[in-house]
Amino acid sequence: MSVLGFHDVRVRYGSHTVLKDVSLEVGDGEIVGLVGESGSGKSTMARAAVGLAPVTGGRILLDGRPVPGRGRARPVQMVFQDPYSSLDPRMTAGESIAEALPERLGKQARQEEITRLLALVHLDAARAGDLPGRLSGGQRQRVALARALAARPEVILADEITSALDVSVQGAVLNLVRDMRRDLGLSMLFISHNLAVVRYVADRVAVMHDGEIVEHGPTAQVLGAPRHEYTRHLLAALPGAGRRTSSDTGTTPPTSILKEQT
Ligand SMILES: Nc1ncnc2c1ncn2[C@@H]1O[C@H](COP(=O)(O)OP(=O)(O)OP(=O)(O)O)[C@@H](O)[C@H]1O
Ligand SMILES: [Mg+2]
Repeated sequence: MSVLGFHDVRVRYGSHTVLKDVSLEVGDGEIVGLVGESGSGKSTMARAAVGLAPVTGGRILLDGRPVPGRGRARPVQMVFQDPYSSLDPRMTAGESIAEALPERLGKQARQEEITRLLALVHLDAARAGDLPGRLSGGQRQRVALARALAARPEVILADEITSALDVSVQGAVLNLVRDMRRDLGLSMLFISHNLAVVRYVADRVAVMHDGEIVEHGPTAQVLGAPRHEYTRHLLAALPGAGRRTSSDTGTTPPTSILKEQT
């Protein structure tokens, strides 16, 4: 059981209230898409859950308890948009992953775990010796995901993880996200501007506007028959809006749809 619950969460920077008593639940093994305009507070939600934003009201709970903050074993892990800046350029892929592994592992177990994690993200074990500079954007993002998985998380917060990638590799990373959920039972908050992407991976969608969630529900309902005026506005403005495609059935990798938008 891994349920991440935001309960009336408030975040304020100076006099600017960025999250206005937001409530949202990411259920066990569920992928919840979070969409909304730039500056609406999406990243702040994710950052608040890992202690990177100043929560001035409300609570964020994992299975009913406060999310453990510091230390290596952190059950809530965040993956960022830009794998170029989120990986240390001087550390090999293997070293980056090893850094996130539990400290008590011996050398042999550590090697095996790195190989297992690379396989989970569909990378060859040989990539462990490569510096980020030798990897493609898609490969780097896979390493960033492997690093997040090294901590054996229960919940992943994915913040625009495909936005910086070439369209040609976005689909593969999205399929990986779906595999991770299926094979590891991970719960996920999946933040994206791209509605085609959200439609492909998310079970439910929450729509954020100016620090508030104005609508949430099953993906097909929110993106197919939005109830809120703002969601309709967003659907008209953001990429992937209103395209009803074979990816709605959840079987076709979205690469071809993504390509249409660029
Ligand atoms: N460290 C900070 N100090 C002050 N203001 C901040 C800080 N971080 C975020 N904000 C403000 O909070 C608001 C929400 O930012 P946030 O990054 O959560 O938006 P977002 O929805 O993720 O946008 P984008 O789609 O562009 O990533 C913005 O007005 C931003 O300027
Ligand atoms: Mg953001």
